[in-house]
Amino acid sequence: MAGEIIPLPAPARHEKTLLIRHEFLNHYGTVFGGYMMQWADDMAYNAASLAFPGARFVTRCFGQFDFTSPVQLGDIIKIFSGVESVGETSCKIQVWAVNARTGAEVFRTFAVMVNVQEGKKAPLKS
Ligand SMILES: CC(C)(COP(=O)(O)OP(=O)(O)OC[C@H]1O[C@@H](n2cnc3c(N)ncnc32)[C@H](O)[C@@H]1OP(=O)(O)O)[C@@H](O)C(=O)NCCC(=O)NCCS
Repeated sequence: MAGEIIPLPAPARHEKTLLIRHEFLNHYGTVFGGYMMQWADDMAYNAASLAFPGARFVTRCFGQFDFTSPVQLGDIIKIFSGVESVGETSCKIQVWAVNARTGAEVFRTFAVMVNVQEGKKAPLKS
Protein backbone atom coordinates (compact mmCIF):
# COMPACT_ATOMS: atom_id res chain seq x y z
CA MET A 1 0.00 0.00 0.00
CA ALA A 2 1.39 3.44 -0.90
CA GLY A 3 2.68 5.31 2.11
CA GLU A 4 2.58 2.27 4.35
CA ILE A 5 5.52 2.10 6.73
CA ILE A 6 6.81 -1.43 7.13
CA PRO A 7 9.11 -1.99 10.12
CA LEU A 8 12.36 -3.74 9.10
CA PRO A 9 13.69 -6.60 11.18
CA ALA A 10 16.59 -4.28 12.06
CA PRO A 11 19.23 -5.44 14.50
CA ALA A 12 17.99 -4.78 18.00
CA ARG A 13 21.03 -2.76 18.92
CA HIS A 14 23.17 -0.16 17.18
CA GLU A 15 26.70 0.69 18.23
CA LYS A 16 29.20 3.49 17.65
CA THR A 17 32.82 3.43 18.89
CA LEU A 18 34.50 6.78 19.53
CA LEU A 19 38.06 7.82 20.40
CA ILE A 20 37.98 10.85 22.69
CA ARG A 21 40.06 13.64 21.16
CA HIS A 22 41.01 17.09 22.47
CA GLU A 23 38.19 18.84 20.63
CA PHE A 24 35.57 17.11 22.82
CA LEU A 25 37.07 18.26 26.14
CA ASN A 26 35.86 20.99 28.47
CA HIS A 27 38.16 23.19 30.58
CA TYR A 28 38.27 20.48 33.29
CA GLY A 29 39.73 17.99 30.82
CA THR A 30 36.65 15.79 30.58
CA VAL A 31 34.14 15.48 27.75
CA PHE A 32 31.46 18.16 27.35
CA GLY A 33 28.04 16.73 28.18
CA GLY A 34 26.66 18.50 25.12
CA TYR A 35 28.72 16.34 22.79
CA MET A 36 27.40 13.22 24.46
CA MET A 37 23.85 14.55 24.08
CA GLN A 38 24.48 15.13 20.37
CA TRP A 39 25.84 11.59 19.95
CA ALA A 40 22.84 10.24 21.85
CA ASP A 41 20.45 12.15 19.60
CA ASP A 42 22.22 10.81 16.49
CA MET A 43 22.06 7.26 17.81
CA ALA A 44 18.38 7.60 18.70
CA TYR A 45 17.65 8.89 15.20
CA ASN A 46 19.66 6.05 13.64
CA ALA A 47 17.85 3.34 15.61
CA ALA A 48 14.40 4.76 14.84
CA SER A 49 15.12 5.41 11.16
CA LEU A 50 16.60 1.97 10.51
CA ALA A 51 13.65 0.29 12.22
CA PHE A 52 11.09 2.36 10.22
CA PRO A 53 12.66 3.24 6.86
CA GLY A 54 9.59 5.08 5.55
CA ALA A 55 9.37 7.42 8.54
CA ARG A 56 10.80 10.94 8.98
CA PHE A 57 11.79 11.23 12.60
CA VAL A 58 12.19 14.25 14.81
CA THR A 59 13.18 14.17 18.45
CA ARG A 60 10.13 14.88 20.63
CA CYS A 61 11.87 14.58 24.00
CA PHE A 62 14.62 12.99 25.99
CA GLY A 63 14.33 11.34 29.37
CA GLN A 64 16.63 12.18 32.23
CA PHE A 65 20.25 12.28 31.09
CA ASP A 66 22.43 10.60 33.69
CA PHE A 67 26.17 11.11 33.31
CA THR A 68 27.52 8.44 35.64
CA SER A 69 31.30 8.49 35.03
CA PRO A 70 33.67 11.05 33.49
CA VAL A 71 35.29 10.53 30.10
CA GLN A 72 38.92 11.57 29.59
CA LEU A 73 41.25 12.25 26.68
CA GLY A 74 42.23 9.00 24.98
CA ASP A 75 39.28 7.03 26.32
CA ILE A 76 37.35 4.87 23.89
CA ILE A 77 33.61 4.88 24.43
CA LYS A 78 30.89 2.79 22.92
CA ILE A 79 27.42 4.26 22.46
CA PHE A 80 24.45 1.94 22.01
CA SER A 81 20.86 2.49 20.97
CA GLY A 82 17.82 0.34 20.37
CA VAL A 83 14.06 0.55 20.00
CA GLU A 84 12.44 -0.19 23.34
CA SER A 85 8.79 0.29 22.44
CA VAL A 86 6.59 1.51 19.62
CA GLY A 87 3.49 3.71 19.93
CA GLU A 88 1.06 5.15 17.41
CA THR A 89 3.28 7.89 15.98
CA SER A 90 6.38 7.53 18.13
CA CYS A 91 8.96 5.09 19.33
CA LYS A 92 11.00 5.10 22.49
CA ILE A 93 14.73 4.55 22.03
CA GLN A 94 17.10 3.52 24.78
CA VAL A 95 20.54 5.12 24.47
CA TRP A 96 23.52 4.39 26.69
CA ALA A 97 27.31 4.52 26.63
CA VAL A 98 30.13 2.64 28.29
CA ASN A 99 33.86 3.18 28.59
CA ALA A 100 35.19 0.40 26.35
CA ARG A 101 38.35 -0.16 28.41
CA THR A 102 36.86 -0.21 31.90
CA GLY A 103 33.28 -1.21 31.18
CA ALA A 104 32.05 1.71 33.32
CA GLU A 105 28.72 3.16 32.27
CA VAL A 106 29.13 6.73 30.97
CA PHE A 107 25.52 7.79 30.46
CA ARG A 108 22.05 6.37 30.04
CA THR A 109 18.86 7.96 28.76
CA PHE A 110 15.98 7.49 26.35
CA ALA A 111 14.56 9.51 23.48
CA VAL A 112 11.05 9.67 22.05
CA MET A 113 11.22 9.98 18.26
CA VAL A 114 8.08 11.01 16.36
CA ASN A 115 7.26 10.33 12.73
CA VAL A 116 6.40 13.67 11.09
CA GLN A 117 4.88 13.89 7.63
CA GLU A 118 4.08 17.31 6.15
CA GLY A 119 4.68 18.97 9.50
CA LYS A 120 2.32 16.75 11.50
CA LYS A 121 2.75 13.61 13.56
CA ALA A 122 1.78 10.55 11.52
CA PRO A 123 1.14 6.87 12.34
CA LEU A 124 4.08 4.50 12.35
CA LYS A 125 1.94 1.46 11.64
CA SER A 126 -0.65 0.96 8.94
C1 LIG B 1 6.82 16.21 16.80
C2 LIG B 1 5.52 17.03 16.85
C3 LIG B 1 4.97 17.22 15.42
C4 LIG B 1 4.53 16.16 17.65
O1 LIG B 1 3.30 16.83 17.76
P1 LIG B 1 2.56 16.89 19.17
O2 LIG B 1 1.19 17.40 18.94
O3 LIG B 1 3.45 17.59 20.12
O4 LIG B 1 2.42 15.33 19.52
P2 LIG B 1 2.25 14.61 20.90
O5 LIG B 1 2.47 15.47 22.08
O6 LIG B 1 0.95 13.88 20.83
O7 LIG B 1 3.42 13.52 20.85
C5 LIG B 1 3.52 12.61 19.77
C6 LIG B 1 3.97 11.29 20.33
O8 LIG B 1 5.06 11.48 21.23
C7 LIG B 1 4.74 10.91 22.50
N1 LIG B 1 5.28 11.75 23.55
C8 LIG B 1 5.22 13.09 23.63
N2 LIG B 1 5.81 13.51 24.77
C9 LIG B 1 6.24 12.39 25.40
C10 LIG B 1 6.94 12.16 26.61
N3 LIG B 1 7.28 13.18 27.42
N4 LIG B 1 7.25 10.89 26.95
C11 LIG B 1 6.91 9.86 26.14
N5 LIG B 1 6.24 10.01 24.96
C12 LIG B 1 5.92 11.27 24.61
C13 LIG B 1 3.22 10.89 22.55
O9 LIG B 1 2.79 9.91 23.48
C14 LIG B 1 2.90 10.54 21.13
O10 LIG B 1 3.17 9.19 20.94
P3 LIG B 1 2.16 8.13 20.23
O11 LIG B 1 1.46 8.81 19.08
O12 LIG B 1 3.08 7.03 19.75
O13 LIG B 1 1.21 7.67 21.28
C15 LIG B 1 5.73 18.42 17.52
O14 LIG B 1 5.82 18.26 18.95
C16 LIG B 1 6.99 19.09 17.01
O15 LIG B 1 7.08 19.50 15.86
N6 LIG B 1 8.02 19.21 17.88
C17 LIG B 1 9.30 19.76 17.49
C18 LIG B 1 10.27 18.62 17.09
C19 LIG B 1 11.66 19.15 16.84
O16 LIG B 1 11.86 20.18 16.23
N7 LIG B 1 12.69 18.41 17.38
C20 LIG B 1 14.05 18.88 17.36
C21 LIG B 1 14.72 18.69 16.07
S1 LIG B 1 14.69 17.04 15.45
